[in-house]
Amino acid sequence: MLNRRSFLRLTAATGVASWISGCSSESNPLLEAGQPSFSEPDVVFSIGGRLELTLRAAPTEVPWGDGSRQAFTYNGSTPGPTLRVRAGDQVVIHLENALDESTNLHTHGLHVSPEGQGDNIFATVDPGESRTYIYDIPSDHRSGLFWYHPHVHGSVARQVAAGLAGAIVVIDETDAITELTASSERIWVLSDPPIATSSAAFDASPMDQMMGREGDAILVNGTENPDITAEAGSLERWRIVNASASRYYRLALDDHEVHLISSDGGRLMAPTAATELLLAPGERSELLVAPTTDGSYSVRALPYDRGGMGMGMGMGSMMGDSSLASEAVIATLTVQGTRAPAPLPSELARSEGVVRPAAGASRILELGMGMGMGMGMGTMTGEGSMMSFTINGTTFDPERTDIHVRAGSVEKWEIHNTTPMDHPFHLHVWPFTVDGAESGWKDTVNVPARESVTITIPFVGIVGRSVYHCHILDHEDLGMMGTIDVTV
Ligand code: C2O
Ligand code: CU
Ligand code: CU
Repeated sequence: MLNRRSFLRLTAATGVASWISGCSSESNPLLEAGQPSFSEPDVVFSIGGRLELTLRAAPTEVPWGDGSRQAFTYNGSTPGPTLRVRAGDQVVIHLENALDESTNLHTHGLHVSPEGQGDNIFATVDPGESRTYIYDIPSDHRSGLFWYHPHVHGSVARQVAAGLAGAIVVIDETDAITELTASSERIWVLSDPPIATSSAAFDASPMDQMMGREGDAILVNGTENPDITAEAGSLERWRIVNASASRYYRLALDDHEVHLISSDGGRLMAPTAATELLLAPGERSELLVAPTTDGSYSVRALPYDRGGMGMGMGMGSMMGDSSLASEAVIATLTVQGTRAPAPLPSELARSEGVVRPAAGASRILELGMGMGMGMGMGTMTGEGSMMSFTINGTTFDPERTDIHVRAGSVEKWEIHNTTPMDHPFHLHVWPFTVDGAESGWKDTVNVPARESVTITIPFVGIVGRSVYHCHILDHEDLGMMGTIDVTV
């Protein structure tokens, strides 16, 4: 079966609708003194069909514990401001680069033009320079949670890990469903930055880059283990984006039900119960939680093994054979008081489901790993020596066009992962469906180690040249990216 470890595990049809962690025998910790409450970045709304904003990328000291840490921020905060827009809106972003290095801006998941002043990741902004991005969001754009981050090949992982990311919410009539408007909507931007007082710590070792760097702390909107206090009977609506450079989050909440309502840019037909949720880098999910009984419950990131370099026998730990992350508590739900139970929505508006158009051309994309630059094993851990990460045997070349597509066509891509580690595959601009999965429209899909995933992509609405890549951003920086040109 192709998607054995695909991004979410649904409970069996007859199963109890619950999302209970494997650790519920542990007693609930009391809310720690001084635990921060859940907070979100500033929100910027579009007004009269237009949102115009200056985003200034800069190195910044941000509060940490009793002191501070070094980060890269947008307008002084990490994550940057949340943008809330509607289909049909125009978004104008003036990106100012106050970093000592080049940067640029990408709107992950938005179905907008990748050309000119649009979502053009081939353009870069030098230190001290600025660039205006204009995104015309089509009037039939799907609603959902999207996000923005830099995309300069070679430094994407560093800049994102250092803090450059923010949420974009596209609103539609689903958001007006009574049950949803009665809920407490919260955006969760998950990150795991290096915690340090100097930006020197933003450089990862060659081994960490090959494995995909993981940081020192798991943060929700920049905060460690924030507390959400809610009444029993209320409805929480959590919209989560994995904005980490490489870390996977396998999420579970002690003793509570969750109901998935959306993945990436795809609404589900109706709320679907799940026992846990795997979010690979770049992926999003939206879920409803109905707090039940007074107490304190942990939102946990459970261990997930995304594989390793597969250097095998005896070299395992040294050569990064496994990346099994240990369990962590990333947030707390404190339930206090009771109110009349709020109902779940029975169906989600605009749930036309996922049209599965007949595909024309099919392609095979092979995700691979090679000894780049003619190195031997002995040099692999040395300074500057690096394995290459490839798609169909080549590393990224912005001048080369790897895939030509005729606008209007529908293609099937078989993505084969020949490596011993997972790779989350991401295509810009054109959302796709995943064969054999009920997850709706997606733009990022995990391709587990040594497995394959087939996606169906309608190349409709937008033309232009863009990219697809592994969203373990270190792998993208090491070459696992290709170019695609969709032309009339
Ligand atoms: Cu989230 Cu090419 O990016
Ligand atoms: Cu993207
Ligand atoms: Cu990868």
